[in-house]
Formats: sequence, C-alpha cells, structure tokens
Amino acid sequence: MFTTDLLKEKVVLVTGGGSGLGLSMSRRFLELGARVVIASRRLELLEQVAAELRAATGGEVLPLQLDVRDPEAVSATLDAAEAAFGRVDALVNNAAGNFISPTERLSHRAFDAVLGIVLHGTVYATLELGKRWIARGQPGVVLSIAAAYAERGSGYVVPSAVAKAGVVNLMRSLAGEWGRYGIRLNAIAPGPFPTEGAWSRLMPTPEIEALFESRVPLGRVGEHAELANLAAYLLSDHAGFVSGDLIYIDGGMSAGNAGEFNLLERVTPEQWDALAALRRKG
Ligand code: HXC
Ligand code: NAP
Repeated sequence: MFTTDLLKEKVVLVTGGGSGLGLSMSRRFLELGARVVIASRRLELLEQVAAELRAATGGEVLPLQLDVRDPEAVSATLDAAEAAFGRVDALVNNAAGNFISPTERLSHRAFDAVLGIVLHGTVYATLELGKRWIARGQPGVVLSIAAAYAERGSGYVVPSAVAKAGVVNLMRSLAGEWGRYGIRLNAIAPGPFPTEGAWSRLMPTPEIEALFESRVPLGRVGEHAELANLAAYLLSDHAGFVSGDLIYIDGGMSAGNAGEFNLLERVTPEQWDALAALRRKG
C-alpha cells in the first residue's frame, strides 16, 4: 500500500505542519506523491522546513502563515492553496495547544487559549473547506489529530481533553451529515509520541516521561513513522469506506489502563502460586 503513488495528485493541507507530528506526516505525504500545504503561525519556520522537505522528497510544498483561531485567515489560506495547486483534497487538523496543570489553577483565559486553537480552529478549517467541497460537488477527506484521552477524559490536561472530545464529535457528526457529498471525516487518537512541542509542555522531566512509558503495555512511546503511515492510509482511497471513526494508536495504553484487573501485572509469580492455592481452597 505504501508505494510512491499512494497519495499521487492529492493536495493536502496540514495545520501545524512545520513541527512535530505535523511535519512527520507532511514528509510522509510528500514521499507518497501528495502536494502539501503546511500552515501555522511561524512563517520563518515553515519556509525553512518547506525548503528541507523539497530537498529531501522532491515534492511540492507550500508554506503559508495561518492562525487557525482566525476564520478569515483560514479562508485566505484556502484561497492561496487553491491558487497554487488548483484545489485542496484533504485537510489534516493537527494544530494544537496544550499544557499540564491542576485545573483549579487555570483561568478561563487558559481554557480559551487551548479551546481556541484545538476546537475552534478545527471547526473553522473543516467548515470552510467543507462548504467549498459541497458547493463544487467535490469529494474530500478530513483527518483530525485528537488524543488518547479524547473519549474518556483526563485530569491535568482538561482544556485539551474537552477540546479534543469536541473535535472527535465534530468528525463523527459531519461523517453522518456530509457522507452524501462524498466527504469522509475521521480522527486519530495518539498515545505519547516524542515531539519538542508536546514534551516541553507535558513531559518536562525524565521522571514524568518514564511514568508515561510505564503505562504503555508495549513498553515504549510511539514512532512518528507509525502515525504518519496511519494518517496516509486514512487520507488515501484505500480507506474509502472508513468514515466517522476514531482510530487509536497508543501501544495499547487506553485499553490496558481501562482493564480493571490489569493492575495484577504487579503480582509476582510466587504471589500467583500463593494466590492459586488460596483460590483452590475457595
Ligand atoms: C497554566 C497557562 C499555561 C500553563 C498558558 N497559560 N500556559 N496556565 N499553565 N503552562 C495561561 C496563561 O497564564 C494565560 O492565562 C492563558 O493561558 C493564555 O496564555 P498565552 O501565553 O497568552 O497563550 P497563547 O499565546 O495563546 O499560547 C497558547 C498556548 C501555547 C497553548 C499556551 O503553549 C502554545 O501556543 N502552544 C502551541 C503548541 C503546543 O502547545 N503544542 C503541544 C501540543 S501537544 P492568564 O489568566 O494568565 O491571562 C498535545 C499532546 C497531547 O496536544 C497528549 C500527549 C501525550
Ligand atoms: P507541536 O509540534 O507543538 O505541534 C503543534 C503545532 O500546532 C505547531 O506546529 C504549531 O505551529 C501549531 N499551532 C499552534 N497554535 C496554532 C494556531 N493558532 N494556528 C496555527 N497553528 C498553530 O506538537 P505535536 O506533538 O507535534 O502535536 C501535533 C498534534 O498531535 C496535536 O494535535 C496534538 O494534540 C496531537 N497529539 C500529540 C501527542 C504527542 O505525544 N506528541 C499525543 C496526542 C496527540 P506554530 O507555533 O507555528 O503555530
């Protein structure tokens, strides 16, 4: 499936495509034949990254300055992308803001800061592009990068958890409403993937990082290529019947931590022998 023409001719807009997972996905999409627009606030970074991506992949990359919190800027970005490439076939809602904090220490402005990027930004981009696709009778694909806690919630990242839950609901709601226009919408729920942006805000010490690794049944963090390939598949025509779904890529973390009895992993073989004897006695 991962041949050089998997995404051939597709124009993909990746918000936050200049760093972290957005950059890894953009690189992979280019390797697989897509033309890619990377859009975020730091234009200088985007231009530098675009030059590196062009040199590494030979693909076409358009860097555009965008603050997803501004709906008019979203519209202008789509205008510029369409002017350069003729159309936009796929949107990856990847831009995000996040930090760890006890919730009672947060102001309403702290909530707004995260909700503005993650929830409102995703709504603005999805709505504007969806309207254009529907008006032109053009099919399209939207993929939103959520988080492993989007469905069940998590303390200490509550603004992000609330926003990501809304994002997943947006994807599912519109999959039902816009399927008839040939528009597919899905979300990915990643577990921990090391990036400068996430690690500096969420895993600020090696001790915190080690705690996270210990909660992943596979015993490690994710590799960017693993997530980038999943995203490429979901954008591709191979996933033509996949819509309204949330796909976990977390090394079993969500399933493992939900399993009531999984805490028995701490029981040693000798303790199991003693427990077995007790159980047999009834
Ligand atoms: C508590 C904080 C805070 C923090 C900001 N605030 N950082 N409160 N702890 N660490 C509060 C401020 O005090 C202020 O409230 C309000 O939030 C707005 O702050 P600004 O600095 O003005 O916000 P802004 O410039 O809009 O920046 C947004 C940001 C920033 C989210 C705070 O970090 C950012 O731009 N991040 C983008 C990249 C990013 O976050 N990447 C990580 C994604 S990783 P007051 O009341 O003081 O005015 C991810 C992974 C999930 O999502 C899962 C991993 C396993
Ligand atoms: P990152 O490098 O910090 O990515 C966040 C990106 O969002 C940056 O490129 C940033 O670029 C952009 N951005 C922030 N505010 C923006 C705005 N207002 N307008 C436009 N762009 C904006 O962190 P990451 O780890 O790669 O995160 C990428 C995605 O994966 C996010 O959705 C995150 O929630 C999700 N995720 C990550 C992990 C993980 O472990 N890394 C786990 C679960 C989910 P600018 O600063 O240039 O704007």
